[in-house]
Amino acid sequence: MDEKQIELKKIIMDTKTLPTLPGVINKLNSLSDNDKSSVQEMARIVSSDQVLSARILRLANSPSYGFYRVSTISNAMILLGVNVVKSLAISSSIFEVMEKNSVGLWEHSLGTGVVSNLIAKKLGLPECEEIATAGLLHDIGKVIISLKCSEAVCEVRRMIDEKQIYMLEAEQEIFGTDHAEVGAWLAKNWFLPDKLTEPIFCHHNVATSENHRIKTSVVHMADVLIKASGFGDSGDNYVPQIQQAAWDALKLNEQIIAELVEDLEDKLVEVKNFSLELQQGFDAPPP
Ligand SMILES: [Fe+2]
Ligand SMILES: [Fe+2]
Repeated sequence: MDEKQIELKKIIMDTKTLPTLPGVINKLNSLSDNDKSSVQEMARIVSSDQVLSARILRLANSPSYGFYRVSTISNAMILLGVNVVKSLAISSSIFEVMEKNSVGLWEHSLGTGVVSNLIAKKLGLPECEEIATAGLLHDIGKVIISLKCSEAVCEVRRMIDEKQIYMLEAEQEIFGTDHAEVGAWLAKNWFLPDKLTEPIFCHHNVATSENHRIKTSVVHMADVLIKASGFGDSGDNYVPQIQQAAWDALKLNEQIIAELVEDLEDKLVEVKNFSLELQQGFDAPPP
């Protein structure tokens, strides 16, 4: 790594300049996920913050989770699971930034969440909601990079056009790191579980996923399909192939892909409507 790369990486990976998280997060992290009384305590803590609760319920009612019509935080915890609600709480401040300043990336993320859920359900996988959350969060590193190094991000965009390379490659050349690594670092800092952190870290290189390869494969595949559909903006317009490691892990065949692409078209109309609704008032209370 050259000096400039070292400097930029230092800026990105500085925990002191991470977006401020709601104070309730620390309290949430200190509670155990498996203990029943902790779950009730968590719901109570989150519900005490009305803005945060409204944001979580908005996201919980997003098409990523199949329109559950979740109306309370304790319901969200029961329907979506504590891990999902915790990561929604943790991500809500980031999502707010993303939804206002980078609609294209927000739609790409939301779309990947929805398609991840679609694939997980189609293949009959367990923990569909957590897979959807991993999809929703997979490019969160891009938000951190653009928050901290907005000027260098212009350079990334220029390099993508000039060299016709993927965003990941341009990031590696400029920062000596990439959004997958930054996203996973962030998720670890926020104490998200490994089953969310690993898909974020490995979504561009499925073969490196050791413990959660199925979840990683789903997120990778959803990312590719959403790019191929032209929905949202992930930063570059080049559609990669689905990696062999994902074909193998999910035992995919051409017919499954064809069926998924068909289901996806209808879903994307819902996602677009949801995204537009959010842009009109992210902080408004849920219906
Ligand atoms: Fe990515
Ligand atoms: Fe992506």
